[in-house]
Amino acid sequence: MNRARWAWIAGLITIGASGVARAQEGVGDVVYVPTPQIVVDTMLNMAKVNAKDYIIDLGSGDGRIVITAAKKFGARGFGVDLDEVLLKRANDTAKREGIADRARFVEENLFETDLSKATVITTYLLPEMNEKLRPKILRLKPGTRVVAHDYHMGEWQPDDNDTLSVPEKSVGNPGTSYIYLWYVPANAAGKWQIRAPVGGHTLAVDLDLSQRFQMLSGNARIDDRAAQLQGARVRGEDVTFWLTVGSGASAVRHEFNGRLQGDTINGTLRVHAGKKVDQAVFTAKRTAPGKLDLGSSL
Ligand SMILES: C[S@@+](CC[C@H](N)C(=O)[O-])C[C@H]1O[C@@H](n2cnc3c(N)ncnc32)[C@H](O)[C@@H]1O
Repeated sequence: MNRARWAWIAGLITIGASGVARAQEGVGDVVYVPTPQIVVDTMLNMAKVNAKDYIIDLGSGDGRIVITAAKKFGARGFGVDLDEVLLKRANDTAKREGIADRARFVEENLFETDLSKATVITTYLLPEMNEKLRPKILRLKPGTRVVAHDYHMGEWQPDDNDTLSVPEKSVGNPGTSYIYLWYVPANAAGKWQIRAPVGGHTLAVDLDLSQRFQMLSGNARIDDRAAQLQGARVRGEDVTFWLTVGSGASAVRHEFNGRLQGDTINGTLRVHAGKKVDQAVFTAKRTAPGKLDLGSSL
């Protein structure tokens, strides 16, 4: 939906500090439409925001997302906007709520904002704006969460999503809010060697992974037998995949869950053979880099 149409639908009128009614439309690439409070709370809960988090809201409007993150979740951070009236309102609210030391609002173009301190980024922007921000977001520290209201990130599929019924919402899809959550994925692409002691035997796994955003695909061998790779993905630094050898009643399924740091994955392996389940720790070492596809940079 383009800016003019959204503005027309929104038709927001706010009362300024002077008590004079004025149209408050926001400034820049998208009009001002506030995220309903129930949606703000759900976005922050989905991202598991906590007191260790540093949150940045890109296009912060009246500041409600960062203010809620600071007040209810103990986080700190800032919002950027180009609308001086909204920025003043946001900073005044933060002061009134006694959290101005943890929530501040600055005049800045959101495409130029330094995101390096963020552990959580929030947006309620148009999809093409999210997509323009995407390459910059994908270069952030793995595990950084991004939560967007209503609009997606193009080819980068969300790690989680929710749909809320919001009867008072009159823009976008009236009465409904969509929430999307992504984790900046670590780079797990490459050739990996895994050695894991399971049931008195050292399992030898060779894995060759390609990565597109958070999704992994490739080939695997276990003890020199071809294995089927399934459910392979990265969520921040957490890597999950299943390898199955054999088929039917003799199939043996290996479930790997680990944490990737640099060229090492440490984690837990569960081997399911019929009703028998063995558990072991495993270490994977990357022996060669692989193909990492983070989409086109717009
Ligand atoms: C849809 S509102 C979202 C407000 C708030 N994040 C929320 O969810 O309640 C989008 C905001 O982005 C601001 N904005 C638009 N283009 C911008 C830009 N290039 N840089 C900074 N802010 C911008 C507008 O002024 C508006 O306040």
